[in-house]
Amino acid sequence: MTMSYDFMDFIREFSQAKSVAVLTGAGISAESGVPTFRGKGGIWEEISIEEVATISAFETNPVRVWEWFLDLRKTFKNCSPNSAHTSLAKLEERFDDFTLITQNIDNYHQEAGSRNVVELHGNAWWSRCWSCGARFEDKALGFDSLPPRCDCGGRLKPDVVFFGEALPIGELERAIQAAQRCEFMLVIGTSAIVAPATSLPYCAYQSGGKIIEVNLEPTGHSSLASLSLFEPATKALERIVEAMGLD
Ligand code: APR
Repeated sequence: MTMSYDFMDFIREFSQAKSVAVLTGAGISAESGVPTFRGKGGIWEEISIEEVATISAFETNPVRVWEWFLDLRKTFKNCSPNSAHTSLAKLEERFDDFTLITQNIDNYHQEAGSRNVVELHGNAWWSRCWSCGARFEDKALGFDSLPPRCDCGGRLKPDVVFFGEALPIGELERAIQAAQRCEFMLVIGTSAIVAPATSLPYCAYQSGGKIIEVNLEPTGHSSLASLSLFEPATKALERIVEAMGLD
């Protein structure tokens, strides 16, 4: 009979941890009003990945990709980080070694005060030239003509990871190292579908880390979890911050 491991067991051990990792997905921004990718009302229910989020879509129809992506930027701009984001920024202050790994491109973790953020899929407010590789911060919500052009004349691409594109290798290595050394990995608001991000909880688990899942429903990671908190991320993280005496 497996011993039950309840919330207070988690808080007792978590309070003593030296090394913590967090993996977040679109679900942590859902309560900000930003649609998730999958599930009811998800972005991929409205439009196909092949049309706007693959490298071949960008190469064959960059105007369509930029039209969709600028709408996404406007959504991020019109919404803002929620208390789940700010709770994670509070938790970061509490631990010597705290790494926040995100699949999200909305920049909300940084805006909420998180500092050690690993962006596996890039950041919506950066662009890169498809020809010369120049990378720069880009807050534009519109352009006179699409696709926007680099000074070198090359076509600009949002500096986010499209399907079929490699992840920024330095970020992935940082994420794997954090997963391998953490005593706890909080896995928050991700459907556990997209690789290689989805392998990070397995990596933490195999290295002896405890997985704590925060989601509205079970996912492919649930079998690894010592504890699953099936509730909105804002509520679960407020409870953790309060139990840690950080509120
Ligand atoms: N609190 C906690 N979890 C939530 C909430 C909430 N308020 N709302 C939704 N969720 C959960 C859903 O149950 C689901 O498991 O968040 C998850 C969202 O899943 P996805 O939309 O698939 O988002 P994500 O896992 O981040 O997608 C990974 O896929 O399309 C690509 O690059 C894109 O980074 C994205 C990647």
